[in-house]
Amino acid sequence: MSFPPRFLEELRSRLSITEVVGRKVKLTRKGREQWGCCPFHNEKTPSFSVSDEKGFYHCFGCGAHGDVIGFTMRAGGLPFPEAVERLAGEAGMEVPKASPEEREQAKREASLYEVMELACKHFETHLRSPQGREALAYLKGRGLTDETIARFRLGYAPEDRNELKVALLGETITKEMLVEAGLLIQPEDGGREPYGRFRGRVMFPITDKRGRVVAFGGRIMGAGEPKYLNSPETPLFHKGRQLYALAQAREGARATGRLIAVEGYMDVIALHQAGLDQAVAPLGTALTEAQIEEMWRLAPEPILCFDGDSAGQRAAGRALERALPMLKPGLSLRFATLPEGEDPDTLVAKQGAKGMEAVLAGAHSLLERLWITETQSHPIDTPERRAALEKRLEEQTRQIQDQQVQYHYRGDIRARLRNLFFPPRPQRGKPFKGKDNFSQFPPRSSPLAQPSAPEPKLERLLLACLISHPDLIDEAAESLGHLTFSDPALDRLRQEVLNLLAQSPGLDSDALRHHLEAHGCKDAVDSLLRTTLARFAKADAGRDEAKKGMLHALGRLRRPEIVQAIVEAERRLGEQASDETWEALKTLQDELNTIDHVDDDEDV
Ligand code: UTP
Ligand code: MN
Repeated sequence: MSFPPRFLEELRSRLSITEVVGRKVKLTRKGREQWGCCPFHNEKTPSFSVSDEKGFYHCFGCGAHGDVIGFTMRAGGLPFPEAVERLAGEAGMEVPKASPEEREQAKREASLYEVMELACKHFETHLRSPQGREALAYLKGRGLTDETIARFRLGYAPEDRNELKVALLGETITKEMLVEAGLLIQPEDGGREPYGRFRGRVMFPITDKRGRVVAFGGRIMGAGEPKYLNSPETPLFHKGRQLYALAQAREGARATGRLIAVEGYMDVIALHQAGLDQAVAPLGTALTEAQIEEMWRLAPEPILCFDGDSAGQRAAGRALERALPMLKPGLSLRFATLPEGEDPDTLVAKQGAKGMEAVLAGAHSLLERLWITETQSHPIDTPERRAALEKRLEEQTRQIQDQQVQYHYRGDIRARLRNLFFPPRPQRGKPFKGKDNFSQFPPRSSPLAQPSAPEPKLERLLLACLISHPDLIDEAAESLGHLTFSDPALDRLRQEVLNLLAQSPGLDSDALRHHLEAHGCKDAVDSLLRTTLARFAKADAGRDEAKKGMLHALGRLRRPEIVQAIVEAERRLGEQASDETWEALKTLQDELNTIDHVDDDEDV
């Protein structure tokens, strides 16, 4: 509901913004303004100012800015009307009732809902009539059950351009209403009779979140243009603000805490029929801010599951950019990618809900998605190109309005960049050139003096072993997470294996391979398993043998890292000896000893 501007003005002028803010924030007067620590971001020195004279608050730290209503909305997490009502109560003002025009508008909308409901019933009836035989066969042919057809209220609009008009016109329903509802088209020249918009199409009603029919999508049977004809914008239908099947998905989303956004009507329906009743879709356009907000009301991290083709991936990219400025603590999007050539509808037809679950389990976080997109879009083989990558990521990070989320993005990205640009390199020759008193270090006999080169062979063995024995992940995850493999393709595979097993512990080898394929790692896995492997890394190795070989390989890969830690501990000990450092050093040396003196009976 909208409030008359004069009422809002009066409300603002009656309230003291410093008083309202002062209840939540400790304010101190300085000149004409009052200052305090901003309640919308974390700070220790006050950069948040409030001025009764101006009627505004402003934070010089995070840029938060607004009037007394804005403050109440943001601080109390309230929608506009509720903030107004609360403040009106405080100011002792009566909230005005809707104007006569507003009441008239509300009445017209009410009757449009009735029109849409009648049209929906009409199309449903036709689907079951002889005229709708072909349409019903089409839907059945696409695998939909009677129950699903009823649940989504699918229907049929006959070819006849006057049929709907004749059927619905009557005492209470006028041609104008049918035109306003988007069901009839009024020819441009005005004089000619309006005619039915949807003809010879299978009808998909689009409902609002309360389940009231507000629009239709009409699909042509077989080939033809346009494939889907949608209702125009009407007083009831705003395609940028509504989501297909939101009403049906609400309960499933609440029960599972999960919401899946797919591209098409048929995808949504196929997922619901397969038991994934938390699916929605935008209405033929890119996801809007309003739709993202709407999804966040149901689930904190909706999973976008767009097609693997370039159009689908572009749409996912646009959704990411749209969401960046909106991210809030705990609120984000996830991105799942379908195998090339599949959409959710075809995937569940072939593999059932399990296939879809596998795709969902491999969803990337928004940051991961951003990282992959930016690091893979341009080469990073020169300093300038690496600087450009850093700059692109910084620009994206700056889009994030929430200061806390932005802070964590920046930190996470910095760590990733460090790892990408300066991977922990194995030591070669003298690992340490320190101050004078350490120039002798390490002694030549020390194990540290032994050079170790990158070991792609070990990397391959380790991954092959894990893919065949995913249950060994518990023994390997921590060390594996700290490593960066020298071969970039293998390193990507390492990350995917870690991600997948973290998200779905208990995957068996087949399921893991399936997920990896869904994530575009098919070639990497195939070529990995084709190479000649040591016994322990083969699929038919026993668990004990696999475990022993894996730990051995892992140890050898971690050697450079441990050597570096030893050098570092020695240095610290030289600067300032402490029991703690001694202990740490001893543990590291033991570790190194174990790695260097494992029986080399395995052909690793
Ligand atoms: P798709 O072409 O992927 O359709 O468009 P689909 O839902 O998979 O349908 P089937 O399986 O071919 O029957 C995805 C969505 O884009 C919108 C619709 O919302 C559709 O569900 N769209 C597509 C249109 O609005 N108009 C069109 O002509 C095509
Ligand atoms: Mn489809």
